[in-house]
This record gives sequence, C-alpha cells and structure tokens, in this order.
Amino acid sequence: MNMTEQAAQAVWVNEAWGKALDKVRRTSQRIGAGFPHASPNGEYVLEPPHWWTAGFWPGLLWLLYNGSGDERLRGIAEECEARLDEVLDGYTRLDHDLGFMWTLTSLASYKLTGSEESKRRALKAANYLAARFNLKGRFIRAWNPWSEGEDNTGVAIIDCAMNVPLLFQASAMTGDPRYRHVAEAHMDTVAADFVRPDGSVYHIMRYDPDTGERLGGLGGQGYAPESAWSRGTAWAIYGLTLAYHHTGKQAYLDTAKRVAHFFLANLPEDHVPHWDFRAPLEERQYRDSSAGACAASGLLLLSEQVGELEAAVYREPAVRMLESLYVNYGAFDDHAQEGLILHGTSHYPNQTNVDVPLIYGDFFFVEGLARLQGKGPFYWE
Ligand code: GLY
Repeated sequence: MNMTEQAAQAVWVNEAWGKALDKVRRTSQRIGAGFPHASPNGEYVLEPPHWWTAGFWPGLLWLLYNGSGDERLRGIAEECEARLDEVLDGYTRLDHDLGFMWTLTSLASYKLTGSEESKRRALKAANYLAARFNLKGRFIRAWNPWSEGEDNTGVAIIDCAMNVPLLFQASAMTGDPRYRHVAEAHMDTVAADFVRPDGSVYHIMRYDPDTGERLGGLGGQGYAPESAWSRGTAWAIYGLTLAYHHTGKQAYLDTAKRVAHFFLANLPEDHVPHWDFRAPLEERQYRDSSAGACAASGLLLLSEQVGELEAAVYREPAVRMLESLYVNYGAFDDHAQEGLILHGTSHYPNQTNVDVPLIYGDFFFVEGLARLQGKGPFYWE
C-alpha cells in the first residue's frame, strides 16, 4: 500500500470507529449491563447471562473504552462481568463457551485494569473449561444436554477454537503448563479432524466418549455435514492463528492459512460471505456479516504472524471485508436500529436470527478496526 492509500484507509477506519463509539454510547443507555444477542426488529433482544454470547457486549464496551477512556462504558462492562458470577458459581449452565464469555469480560478487564478479582474469575473459568477435556478423544466437550436425556458427551465443535485461548493464557498467568497441554491437544484434534484437505471445515465432530473413536461430522449450523458454514470457517481461521500465536507450532499456522485460502476463494464480489459457502444456490441468498467480521480480525492477526512478503495476502482482503461491512452493511446512522452491522445469520437451519445484526458481528467489526488502528491489547492474545 502506498502512502496515499494508507491515508485514505486511515480516514474511513477512524470515521467508522467514531461512529461505532457514538452509536454504542447511545444504545448503551437502553441496553445497560444486559446481554444482547440479535436485533431482529431494531432493538437488541437481551438474553439470560448463561447464553454463549454474554461476553460480546462487555467485550465491545472494553474495546471502545480502551480507545476512548469513556468511564461509563467501562462501568457497564464491569457490571456485566459481576452479573456473570451467578453463572460461574452456579456451575450447571457452564459449557465450552466459558472461553468466549470470560475472555471478553474477565481477561479483558485484567488486561486493561490489572484487577485481581478479574484474574481469579478468568482462572476459575479456565479450570472449568480444562475439566471438559476428554482424554481418550483429545477434545474439549462442547455442550451439556440441551434436553432431558440428550447425550452430548462425545460432541466437539469448531467454535471451541476460540475458547482455548483462555487456556493458553491461564498457563501464561500461572506458570502451570497443564492448561496449555489441554489447549494444544484440542487444537491438534481440530487440525486433524475438523479441517478438510481443501481448507473447508466441519462444524460438529462426534466421538465415542469412552474410546475416543472419531464417529463423523454433523451439519450443525451449516447446511449439511459436508457443506462449509462460513462462521465456523471464520472460527477456524482465527482460532488456529491464535493457537500459533500462543505456541509457535508450525502446523497451526499452515492449517490457518489453508482455511484462510478456502474462505477467501469463496467470497462473493462484495467480500462478505454467504452464511454457508456450499449451500445450494436457492438457499444461499443470506450473508453472514458476523463471519466476515470475525474472519477479517483473524486475518489481520494472521498477517502479523507470517513473513513480510506474505502479509498483504491476508491483510488486504481483511481490509476490503471491513470496508465493505462499513460501507454496505453498516447501520451507524440509523437511529431505529441498535446493531452496528446488518445482515448476520445466527442459525439458518433452525431459522433463528437470519439476516439480522448480531452482537458478535458488531464486536469483531470493532475489534478489526482496533487492529487497523493498533489499539490493543486484544483479549484472545
Ligand atoms: N454456536 C456459536 C455460533 O453461532 O457461532
């Protein structure tokens, strides 16, 4: 990029950041220390604190606090973190999403404020997460039963690639390598069992929980077991890149690149992915802007991990995705809509929250901007 292009980039990035900050200052008056997920009718629906998305709103507030020094935003983020104690100490609603939830609340707080209470909460969450490891199958169990009698004991999902950074960081914080051992074993399984030779990714893998035998992939939030759910692909790009960042293990970097190449090769003209790259055309019409935002932030980190000659391969498409999200998908000036980024798809097969703003889309979009502005720290790292 020459200097004129760099200056032009800085202009839209700073403008988008300013608009995101203004809008969240406004929407936080209503949302407060709630836990928004999707905004189907202009207002974010608030979920109970045990829902997997509970960390994204406080995570977004921490990002914007870090860039602005706005103490009100910090106060709300801290209130959200305190509200999650009921879930952490209640225990029964905890699953592998401990990583998403306490990385974006307690780890964020610890990194930005040095709070010892936040550090304790993050370590407690890491212990519960590590305890979900299945030694025979070398995977972290995803969910508890959704309904009476359902057996999820042998289920692992690609999303968990974003939960294990909590474990890498627990080892760094305590000097105890056990958390890292669990994280690496799980990520080895992700690279071996979830990522196909062409770089596409399974959402769900089922194992025999007693023997560890791999039984096969399931469709989950994608169109079909052998399709390519775009948000799952984004989780894999970012999660494998983070695993490389934390370990320096070449296989993670090589696999992250393979998945990134698949993702980038399948983008439509406006650089924002459809919800599943392999859904039949008549079912593929909806985008998932959250997959684009997550992949963009992960690709920016990836561009920092590779050599100088390769960096642009990942950085340039990430910038194009973020700019398209801002220009073509942004709702920054729309006062009738609380979301920042339109056209996310949460769960197409269940037909829930299709073509709506999603809080994780907003979070990763702003995180991507923060990366372009060099406004770390980033909580996964
Ligand atoms: N299951 C988490 C997600 O929707 O990506």
